[in-house]
Amino acid sequence: MILVTGATGNVGRALLEELHAYGAGPLRALTRNAARASFPDGVEAVEGDFADTASLKAALEGVRSLFLVTRMGGTDAEIVEAARQAGVDHVVLVSSITAATHPHLVPAQENLAIEQILKDSGMEWTILRPTQFASNTLWWAEPIREGRPVRVPFADIGLPTIHPADIGSVARVALTEPGHRGMTYTLTGPERVTPRQQVAAIAAALGRDVPLVEIGRAEAHRDLAAFLDDEGADAVLDVTGGDVTDELLAVHDTVPLVTGSPARPFHQWATENAAAFR
Ligand SMILES: NC(=O)c1ccc[n+]([C@@H]2O[C@H](COP(=O)([O-])OP(=O)(O)OC[C@H]3O[C@@H](n4cnc5c(N)ncnc54)[C@H](OP(=O)(O)O)[C@@H]3O)[C@@H](O)[C@H]2O)c1
Repeated sequence: MILVTGATGNVGRALLEELHAYGAGPLRALTRNAARASFPDGVEAVEGDFADTASLKAALEGVRSLFLVTRMGGTDAEIVEAARQAGVDHVVLVSSITAATHPHLVPAQENLAIEQILKDSGMEWTILRPTQFASNTLWWAEPIREGRPVRVPFADIGLPTIHPADIGSVARVALTEPGHRGMTYTLTGPERVTPRQQVAAIAAALGRDVPLVEIGRAEAHRDLAAFLDDEGADAVLDVTGGDVTDELLAVHDTVPLVTGSPARPFHQWATENAAAFR
């Protein structure tokens, strides 16, 4: 039994579809609200919350392979311990590239901590360290739908943004094929893409102009304060342009090497998700 957590999210949804198409199974999907979720035929939906260890224990019954998303609530050590006690033998963990590139930032430290807890658990592991997701541009969906300009700092600094389905593809391979246990994979898209190019790709997918206004760091910090604390807002601004390093900018070929298929470009994600911006 494979349990996919974050199953209604950007990566989990794509992973479940791939596992289903591949014929892996049996498959179980964790969600906090099964009535609201829809999964491929034959996937067992199970309700659970990372913050409620009893619900996790029930969801983990009979599970041997676990796809684990991080930093969604609950205590990392308890989540990993619940998996170990249930008899899970392999965990594929979604961490972040910033664990390597920006280990001084709080979100990166949290990812490093759960990586270490997993390594110390006695279970086998595969760690995925993806870069910035293409789906982060959904933050712009509301202004674009309403015809307002997209406000971005660092409009011309491009990171090798990854399509979440590529993370799902790597996870599918790691969960179902030998040779990926004990590996830590840095995952990026196929090319660097700037916010200005992302907005242009979304505009092309919509068939209309989408205006962009470049704002300064202080103004962007004020915008982010609506969702994040000071430290969180600074971390986002550092890793999206304020403090980028060569390692954060580098394109890695891990996705094609592991999956045998080229990494998906940003414009593909924009075309597939145009409806969210209409
Ligand atoms: N975005 C980035 O640029 C980036 C970069 C590096 C790493 N990451 C990491 O990538 C991972 C996956 O991201 P994603 O975009 O696929 O996630 P997502 O779309 O934001 O959401 C994942 C799912 O987690 C579930 N969830 C939320 N809180 C939960 C809780 N307390 N207990 C159980 N489930 C909960 C939700 O499903 P239900 O509502 O159905 O319960 C949600 O659909 C995350 O761990 C993130 O930290 C992201």
